[in-house]
Amino acid sequence: MTINEIRQKYLDFMQRRGHALTPSASLVPEGDATTLFTSAGMQPMMPYLLGEKHPLGPRLVDSQKCFRSQDIESVGDNRHSTFFEMLGNWSLGDYFKKEQLKYFFEFLTDPNKGLGLDPSRLFVTAFEGDGQIKKDTETIEIWRDLFIRANLKNVDEHIFTYPASKNWWSRASVPEKMPVGEPGGPDSEVFYDFGVNHRFHESSAYKNGECHPNCDCGRFLEIGNSVFMQYQKNSDGSLSELPQKNIDFGGGLVRLAAAVNNDPDIFHTSIYDPIVKEIEKLSGKSYEDEENQPPMRIIADHLTAATFLIKDGIFPSNKAQGYVLRRLLRRAAVKLHFLMGGREGIIQLAGITSSIIEIYKSIYFVKDDSLYVQGAIANEISRFEKSLDKGIKELEKKTDVSGKDAFDLYQNYGFPLEITTEILAQIGKSIDTEQFQKEFEKHQELSRTASMGMFKGGLSDHSAIVTAYHTATHLLHSALRIILGTHVSQKGSNITAERLRFDFFQPEKISDDQIKSIEDLINQKISEKLPVTRAEMPKEKAIAEGAMAFFGQKYPDIVSVFTIGEEPNHFSKELCGGPHVASLAELAKIKVVKQESLGADTRRLYLQFV
Ligand code: SER
Repeated sequence: MTINEIRQKYLDFMQRRGHALTPSASLVPEGDATTLFTSAGMQPMMPYLLGEKHPLGPRLVDSQKCFRSQDIESVGDNRHSTFFEMLGNWSLGDYFKKEQLKYFFEFLTDPNKGLGLDPSRLFVTAFEGDGQIKKDTETIEIWRDLFIRANLKNVDEHIFTYPASKNWWSRASVPEKMPVGEPGGPDSEVFYDFGVNHRFHESSAYKNGECHPNCDCGRFLEIGNSVFMQYQKNSDGSLSELPQKNIDFGGGLVRLAAAVNNDPDIFHTSIYDPIVKEIEKLSGKSYEDEENQPPMRIIADHLTAATFLIKDGIFPSNKAQGYVLRRLLRRAAVKLHFLMGGREGIIQLAGITSSIIEIYKSIYFVKDDSLYVQGAIANEISRFEKSLDKGIKELEKKTDVSGKDAFDLYQNYGFPLEITTEILAQIGKSIDTEQFQKEFEKHQELSRTASMGMFKGGLSDHSAIVTAYHTATHLLHSALRIILGTHVSQKGSNITAERLRFDFFQPEKISDDQIKSIEDLINQKISEKLPVTRAEMPKEKAIAEGAMAFFGQKYPDIVSVFTIGEEPNHFSKELCGGPHVASLAELAKIKVVKQESLGADTRRLYLQFV
């Protein structure tokens, strides 16, 4: 079965069960400033999951284009891609668990109406429960019943339970990370088993134990996820039932095709096959030769993603979505350069676009798209090709590459830092990693864009600790103004995973007693577990409401404002892109570890979580 056949089969199957077909939304979310890309089928459905009536009724089916930039590092293995199509069926307060699991099981296993997969190859998961939400025994019982009816032996060996990190879905992951108002719920994933003793088991985190669906050694592949979206986060950190119980089902189209082929490599499916063949032609190398697989997969995925992004109106640039697109194209170009043994001609990458458009044309493209998509890619690659040669020559000249060198390459030749690392790995060179890290942090500050504060799918990949320090910055700023006086104003800040550094206007040295009061005040607020909320409003309104702005910084007309504490007695209110924690309950206690003076009026404090 080809990808086009599987997609059609699913859409028909669900339409026969009363679902109305809706088209895919754009990869660039409209009217949603919280994310750069559509990274799950549920994103465009948000208003309806929260109760707005959908014009086509409470049962919907679609295949949604998705892009996940956070998966970029995983591309190169047999199953990850940044671009993919997610099949989706939706119950907006209509049917729930029983019908959903039955539909999906029937679609997977029925030889006529569905894909005819062998039930003994299917493994399923359910939420094991936590302090707040109990174990999902209903889901377990439904699966047992479905498996028994399908005459499966050892039914219980096919059902696994996991904590929220694996079996809970919201746009912001686990319940603790969900912002106030965010919907989410437990989920049930279905995995396809490609066979025992997978050869990558040795490199898995679970190598010393039994393999299981979430082991990630490549034996099991997640092919679909049914989310029981029935909760919403409250400001006190608890969860309450949504007025309507929804089903959000997402199935990876290309992964379903891999299961149908009984071949765990998604790049062997009908979507990637013609693209891989083109890359083989260009490079003169074979995909079946294992060392060529990672770069070929990266090129195939990144060009597919680029083609779809350009179709949805993105062009390579240094900002937001355009920057992500630029990095995809440059990374694909670097991979092809080395595959081709340094020969000229990476510009031919642009030609591959026609095959991509040909594959998806009946649904997502019209014939004329080929011209301008190719034009945009050729333009970007030809600009990059010249710098690539010069940059590689510079890197080859040096024995040791410093972090500063890597940063210069970024500025002079537009090499994103990860591309420099990749080139260095190819030519077997080392790098001063510590200095590199410092420059990298500076670079991250520079390339901070609209992506700040976004959910999964955004540009920035701030670790939880960095996010926590961001929130601590706001706490410190307010505490200083309360303890030292409102003359205090922030001049700058810098965050690493180890500490927060904060510079501010303050002529006098701060006494030990004052430091103690600042710490106590912040820790008091942390122990009160105040909520942190984000709102968008016109800049004037924010300032009028007393939100602090960073002196000398330009802000857009509509700004995002983070408030710590409940109105009207908020503890802090600042214009900021984020990201921030949802509640101070997520922060550890803090300590001021050092004070410095930077000239007459400016002091610097270092703060750490203890
Ligand atoms: N939202 C869920 C996911 O992305 C199911 O669609 O996996």
